[in-house]
Amino acid sequence: MPTADNLRSIELYRRTAAGYDASTGPTWPIRMRCIERLTLRPGETVLDVGCGTGLSFEALLQGVGRSGRLIAFEQSPEMHAQARQRADALRADGWSVELHCTSAEEVQLGAAPDAALWHYVHDITRSPAALDNLFAQVRPGMRLAVAGMKFFPWWLAPLNLLAWLKNRPYNVHAHELHEPWSLLAPRLERFEWEATQWGMGYLGSGVVKAASR
Ligand SMILES: C[S@@+](CC[C@H](N)C(=O)[O-])C[C@H]1O[C@@H](n2cnc3c(N)ncnc32)[C@H](O)[C@@H]1O
Repeated sequence: MPTADNLRSIELYRRTAAGYDASTGPTWPIRMRCIERLTLRPGETVLDVGCGTGLSFEALLQGVGRSGRLIAFEQSPEMHAQARQRADALRADGWSVELHCTSAEEVQLGAAPDAALWHYVHDITRSPAALDNLFAQVRPGMRLAVAGMKFFPWWLAPLNLLAWLKNRPYNVHAHELHEPWSLLAPRLERFEWEATQWGMGYLGSGVVKAASR
């Protein structure tokens, strides 16, 4: 059953899905750096968490190669419809892509990925139920790379109104931007992050701990 947060997020993306791809240009270098942090190898299985319209599919598949596999999920029907078009075209070209239209709280992955991309999926990062479900299905040692928005450091605090306003059209939990990784990081070892976008974003990575469930 979708939660109230799931339904609110789906409603947000009903309004933003059509213009989503056009809005992502400025964060493209961060997407590429986030994918690089996964250090993908041929033959691996990679998970795209909250894949949106599938903008990361090609780069992820280049990393795992023709012998590898991409699993992706997305709960917004409008975002998923665009991802499905990309997935269909890639499958027709011989790539292995499995795409689910479901929430992070309910998805059943069907395979344990070697690496997971967590790119600009703040509401998933802030959902304990989503993290419980996903981490119950991944194996210790899985590599994870995460990027998203955060609040500016305290000396730039007045600018946080801007950060909040930028996040509101996309995130139900737009107010939880102080340490957005705080529920994720304890499940990872060797977690490290760096600030991006003059302090309004972050890029992090780590590997899943043995006792992360
Ligand atoms: C800012 S978009 C990012 C999409 C994609 N990861 C990208 O990098 O372009 C956030 C996506 O997360 C999805 N999302 C939010 N909460 C979710 C949840 N609980 N389960 C699945 N998808 C969710 C939204 O529908 C939206 O497509």
